[in-house]
Amino acid sequence: MLFLQLPLLLALLVGGDNEQNKNSVPEAPQTPFSFQGLQISSFANRSWTRTDGLAWLGELQPYTWRNESDTIRFLKPWSRGTFSDQQWEQLQHTLLVYRSSFTRDIWEFVEKLHVEYPLEIQIATGCELLPRNISESFLRAAFQGRDVLSFQGMSWVSAPDAPPFIQEVIKVLNQNQGTKETVHWLLHDIWPELVRGVLQTGKSELEKQVKPEAWLSSGPSPGPGRLLLVCHVSGFYPKPVRVMWMRGEQEEPGTRQGDVMPNADSTWYLRVTLDVAAGEVAGLSCQVKHSSLGDQDIILYWNGNHVSRGLIVILVLLVFVLLFVGGLVFWFRKHRRYQDIP
Ligand SMILES: *[C@@H]1O[C@H](CO)[C@@H](O)[C@H](O)[C@H]1NC(C)=O
Ligand SMILES: *[C@@H]1O[C@H](CO)[C@@H](O)[C@H](O)[C@H]1NC(C)=O
Ligand SMILES: *[C@@H]1O[C@H](CO)[C@@H](O)[C@H](O)[C@H]1NC(C)=O
Repeated sequence: MLFLQLPLLLALLVGGDNEQNKNSVPEAPQTPFSFQGLQISSFANRSWTRTDGLAWLGELQPYTWRNESDTIRFLKPWSRGTFSDQQWEQLQHTLLVYRSSFTRDIWEFVEKLHVEYPLEIQIATGCELLPRNISESFLRAAFQGRDVLSFQGMSWVSAPDAPPFIQEVIKVLNQNQGTKETVHWLLHDIWPELVRGVLQTGKSELEKQVKPEAWLSSGPSPGPGRLLLVCHVSGFYPKPVRVMWMRGEQEEPGTRQGDVMPNADSTWYLRVTLDVAAGEVAGLSCQVKHSSLGDQDIILYWNGNHVSRGLIVILVLLVFVLLFVGGLVFWFRKHRRYQDIP
């Protein structure tokens, strides 16, 4: 998948130049930008079923559609995009008809092809806007967690190692010209128009940039004579970030990256560690690249004085205990003095 940075994308749409130099130092990561819808359908048995829908734009989720509801819920003030009420009604109606016929069709397939309950079906569809105003859409389906079929051009095709009964399903689906035209319309007209519109109405939130803070600490020693250097990067948005332990201009090969974790304020946190011999820490630095920083990378040098967080907590506790004991001693002395007054 090709993710594009939004500002870059907009620059391209108005005819900018995207030639990027290929340096040995990695580029700042790009903001992911694609529209992705997911349908999750569970069939526990012949009588119990539900279908839920979700959609993302990059990291944000502007739409949800629960089984209990007949309408798509807008989760963002800009979810409507530039579609008119009439366009939304038409889309909503199409999807509602689709949802009930999908459920019916699955029941029929199950009966005809003797498939066993319970069933899990996931359908992913979406669109990416590429340079030069080109868009690329997709729709694929998974059965029991395995890719089984997709829509290509104007027909349904089977995934490479789909179970044999999928051929039967595809034969039936490909005979239905009306459905194929509707899917084609969704993929080639509706998704790109929806995304272009939402890009305009949600511009400020989609383009949000929050700069990271970074600090160093030492972790538990990995072994005798070795140090674990930890580079913490927190509070950044959007999610893509590049954090490296460097020796001069070279990235240290032993760099280990953790998972990017969410902070409570919808920004992100990442820690990147380096296991290094205690004698080899001179000249090491942690370098942070993020779209919010432009080309002003954060660079923190290891100077050997970074204590571990645990130690800081213990020191702070110790100070509190000392202050408390000191206060008690002071209070007792003062108190005794008054009592001592004859
Ligand atoms: C169907 O599945 C649901 C949910 O698991 C369950 O509560 C219900 O009893 C099942 N019904 C039958 C007829 O097996
Ligand atoms: C999901 O929606 C369908 C159609 O409205 C309904 O028949 C079904 O009972 C719902 N499923 C659950 C689990 O609520
Ligand atoms: C991009 O393509 C869409 C649909 O083909 C069209 O409506 C729109 O005006 C185009 N935008 C630009 C900037 O060319």
